[in-house]
Amino acid sequence: METILITGGSGLIGTALCELLSGEGYQVIVLTRSPSSAKRKFRSSISDISFAAWDIKKGTIDEDAFRKADHIVHLAGAGVADKRWSARRKKEIVNSRIKSGELLLQTLRTTAHKVKTIVSSSAIGWYGPDPSIPNLHPFRESDPPDSHFLGETCRLWEESIRPATGLGIRLVILRTGIVFSAKRGAFPEFKKPLRLGLAAILGNGRQVVSWIHIDDICRIYLAAIERTDMQGVYNAVAPEPVSNKMLIQTMARVFRGKNFISLHVPRFAIKIALGEMSVEVLKSATVSCDKLKDTGFDFLYPSLDSALNALNHG
Ligand SMILES: NC(=O)c1ccc[n+]([C@@H]2O[C@H](COP(=O)([O-])OP(=O)(O)OC[C@H]3O[C@@H](n4cnc5c(N)ncnc54)[C@H](OP(=O)(O)O)[C@@H]3O)[C@@H](O)[C@H]2O)c1
Repeated sequence: METILITGGSGLIGTALCELLSGEGYQVIVLTRSPSSAKRKFRSSISDISFAAWDIKKGTIDEDAFRKADHIVHLAGAGVADKRWSARRKKEIVNSRIKSGELLLQTLRTTAHKVKTIVSSSAIGWYGPDPSIPNLHPFRESDPPDSHFLGETCRLWEESIRPATGLGIRLVILRTGIVFSAKRGAFPEFKKPLRLGLAAILGNGRQVVSWIHIDDICRIYLAAIERTDMQGVYNAVAPEPVSNKMLIQTMARVFRGKNFISLHVPRFAIKIALGEMSVEVLKSATVSCDKLKDTGFDFLYPSLDSALNALNHG
């Protein structure tokens, strides 16, 4: 039975991924800043998941756990949309990713290990805004990073882990779209106004959202671990990016039937509410998953309807 060490395994993607990997027969070790609080995020019935500590600021890591790992999944990082982007928060968003990547690399260089694969998260924030809407040339993996905060963060994040290839380790980087999960993240936020019967379209609603269902992103991580022919960067998004207006109105139909009123939240109000982070929700980014599809990956939820229906019944 192979062992997978997961940094940030206590988060939204991590908890779902740990359950999938455990169900597939892997031993899972969650590498966390706090084993006791990470443990509380899991169902007590899952016995194949254990917990190990690291301290990124002090540069320490549980070396016993590290030695057991056949594969590493690297998800750790301060939440991009959890707090307003003050200068301090931006530093934390970047440093939590770079310093954690560097600590993994340093440990790989100095510890006897058997790690064959690293699958690291990145984000579609790598790409700039669509040059036109509709964008007839969705962003592909070879496109350069955007020069703004998220693009620069993703570039530094990917650079911090890339030296693993020089150590003979297969590296897969997943530029992840907006993950739709009923539990947390962007999706429940989009859904909130629907409780009041309001379909709240952001700005003019034309901006394209490149999304992925939580079960599919976890299955992509599994594929990246198991498929030794996968290497390098892949966009992890569903094949059907949609406009914000289409997303919100489809959600309204799925969750409220005909019982809703559409309204536009003006850009200035979003900017006041979110500050610089408003670029996140107002930016249009049409991202291609062709490279992933070429590996033969089969999406469980390729269309928005299929994903929303699953989230409605999940
Ligand atoms: N969810 C999305 O829509 C989405 C989209 C694109 C990319 N991603 C990326 O995918 C990764 C996983 O996403 P997620 O949604 O599961 O994130 P999440 O729920 O925020 O979890 C991330 C984990 O990282 C660890 N972490 C938080 N702050 C940290 C810090 N300052 N220093 C070091 N570790 C820290 C935490 O684990 P411990 O507290 O146990 O240490 C946390 O559980 C993230 O890097 C995220 O940026 C997510």
